[in-house]
Amino acid sequence: MAIQKVGVVGCGLMGSGIAQVCAAAGFPTMVREVSADLMDKGLKGIEKQLSRLGEKGTISEAAKGEIRGRLKGTTSLDDLKGCDLIVEAIIEQLPAKRELFASLDIICPPSTIFASNTSSLTITEIATATKRPQRFVGLHFFNPVPVMKLVEVVRTIATDDAAYEEMVAFGRKLGKTPVRAKDSTGFIVNRLLVPYLLDAIRALEEGVGSIEDIDNSMKLGCGYPMGPLTLLDFVGLDTTYYISQIMFDEFKERRFAAPPLLKRMVLAGWNGRKSGRGFYDYADPQKPRPMKF
Ligand code: 3HC
Repeated sequence: MAIQKVGVVGCGLMGSGIAQVCAAAGFPTMVREVSADLMDKGLKGIEKQLSRLGEKGTISEAAKGEIRGRLKGTTSLDDLKGCDLIVEAIIEQLPAKRELFASLDIICPPSTIFASNTSSLTITEIATATKRPQRFVGLHFFNPVPVMKLVEVVRTIATDDAAYEEMVAFGRKLGKTPVRAKDSTGFIVNRLLVPYLLDAIRALEEGVGSIEDIDNSMKLGCGYPMGPLTLLDFVGLDTTYYISQIMFDEFKERRFAAPPLLKRMVLAGWNGRKSGRGFYDYADPQKPRPMKF
């Protein structure tokens, strides 16, 4: 059964991006937030992205109108009952995700495929809140979702072949390159990315180089689009700290352990770009200035 209609739960940074790419790929998309205020904020964010694409000439006025027409917001979970696929992108907390999927399991027909955009939680542990673990996968997108070409399609030991292949095909329909990953904490990307980011912080702590020199080294020496400390600010230090704790808990390996500096920055509320301060100060967002430690 091919996916016709998509539901997205959560319209924050990731959810709004996912909803935008689903609607842009031609899928009628219903996105749900918990309050009218958050719903409004999420839809305005998508509108801003579409306007930017329009101004640059990437999409026509007509295409923008069609995307808007396919995208609907709601605060009611019940409105998702007609969806063939539901992608969850809510807060990264296991109890909240399990509770959400247990409710959706009652609302949606058994044919609906459920997917979580979790970056570090175990898909199996979320799926067991439902009676359909065979139709449950991970669909892990990357920030900014409309730009990044990858989606990790994660299968658990319970996911059946038909649902899994449907999700790989869905990833392609979104214009992404799907990669197949098993339900191992961090999947492929964060398994490799998180130790790299944490090592960049350790290099800074040990005085190996300055913030700018560490970033320039990886940008200019290895061709990465952002240096690791800039990327940490972009992803969010609180998010990275949280992921590292889950990964350390799973693997008990030092490479996943949060460096003391990361912990202290998160405690101080220096969560990166979104909080105005991280490894850089974003008082002028066009000209971030490296912080002094
Ligand atoms: N939302 C939507 N589009 C955006 C955007 C955003 N936040 N930021 C930039 N873009 C678009 C721009 O509009 C531009 O589009 P165009 O080519 O059609 O004109 C394009 O992206 C390039 O942007 P810029 O020219 O302004 O800037 P850059 O060339 O520096 O690209 C970037 C910005 C795409 C963010 C690039 O720096 C990059 O790829 N950085 C690395 C991002 C990354 O690694 N993401 C993964 C994070 S890990 C993750 O998400 C997993 C989680 O589990 C932690």
